[in-house]
Amino acid sequence: MRSEARSIPTAAATVRTPELAVIVPTFNERENVALVRDLVADALAGVDWELIFVDDDSADGTAEAVRGMARSDPRIRCVQRIGRRGLSSACIEGMLATAAPYVAVMDADLQHDERLLPRMLQALKQDGCDLVVGSRYVEGGGFGRWDERRAGISSMATKLSRIVCKIEIADPMSGFFMMRREIFERAVRGLSGQGFKILLDLLASSPAPLRIKELPYEFRPRRHGTSKLDTLVAWEFGMLLADKLVGHLVPVRFALFAFIGALGLVVHLAVLRCALAVPSLGFTGAQATATVVAMTSNFFLNNLFTYRDQRLHGWRLLRGLGSFYLICAVGAVGNVGIAAYVFAADNVWWLAGISGAIVGSVWNYAVSSVFTWRRR
Ligand code: GDD
Ligand code: MN
Repeated sequence: MRSEARSIPTAAATVRTPELAVIVPTFNERENVALVRDLVADALAGVDWELIFVDDDSADGTAEAVRGMARSDPRIRCVQRIGRRGLSSACIEGMLATAAPYVAVMDADLQHDERLLPRMLQALKQDGCDLVVGSRYVEGGGFGRWDERRAGISSMATKLSRIVCKIEIADPMSGFFMMRREIFERAVRGLSGQGFKILLDLLASSPAPLRIKELPYEFRPRRHGTSKLDTLVAWEFGMLLADKLVGHLVPVRFALFAFIGALGLVVHLAVLRCALAVPSLGFTGAQATATVVAMTSNFFLNNLFTYRDQRLHGWRLLRGLGSFYLICAVGAVGNVGIAAYVFAADNVWWLAGISGAIVGSVWNYAVSSVFTWRRR
């Protein structure tokens, strides 16, 4: 093996890595990839570039289309991920797949103006910035024919993220930017990699403040295909913001779980009150009914909100409900046991009650996160 490796002609070693890598995340963008290649090649004439598409195993054959282009042009590469989804994590893996000293991220749907790329590169090389952002919110930028509703949502999300992340940047939600490789490498281990907000994530995870420049551009309408922004993406954004706000105190998912648990107590009391009006049930029957109703509603609320990203459907939903009942039953035994123990020790009823409730809910959370909503 060794002698073979040594016999590789030295000419191969003189081929240099491109100066700029443009990372393009794709999910069902087959009809756009060739257009992206043409536009990028035009815009970057004179620059030594490579174009890396990171595709999450799109059913429409995007990866195959990219490899088709790559066969005749080695500047084009395809990273195909199987069994995974996510715009942010795709961008991260694309950047990790290149050694280029400058890296850019751009969407595949032609909404970002590729003509900004050479100016972004120039700003990094000559103006000494760390990060250049294509911005819709600085003078000269805009939304073009974007529909009003989305422009409204985008501007609200932008304001929210500015409050939470204390970032002095007009368009932290932009998905179009370029940076020095070191900036990415310094932040990469702190990135959450969840959802769509890769830039926000980078800004929030950078250890030192960055020298940022924003260049205006007009957001164009999508050429082919459809947007992947949905309620799950919105949910992930909310979780990211909440994590920046309270994540250092308590995990956001647990906070949500505990909140729904508290809501469950209200449900429990309301059902108990009604069930007591049915004489044939008696207190035990009424309490049992209330317990089952509260557990069931907790399960569905958690499935809808706390674990939106791993939501159970179909028969998994039923199996999940069953396991949740079991886990909560054991949690209740632990709850009562701890409360009785604390009460016996110091006779303070509320301290005993709270201790039991905390132990019960931590148990329920920890065990259901492993058995009920386990990651597949
Ligand atoms: N690999 C991969 N995996 N790519 C994805 C995924 C995914 O799960 N989801 C979306 N993409 C790709 C799309 O194929 C497209 O190239 C790009 O990411 C953006 O997706 P869109 O679905 O077009 O998103 P958008 O237009 O709603 O949002 C864009 O604009 C926002 C600004 O308002 C994105 O750039 C956002 O990051 C940006 O915040
Ligand atoms: Mn888009």
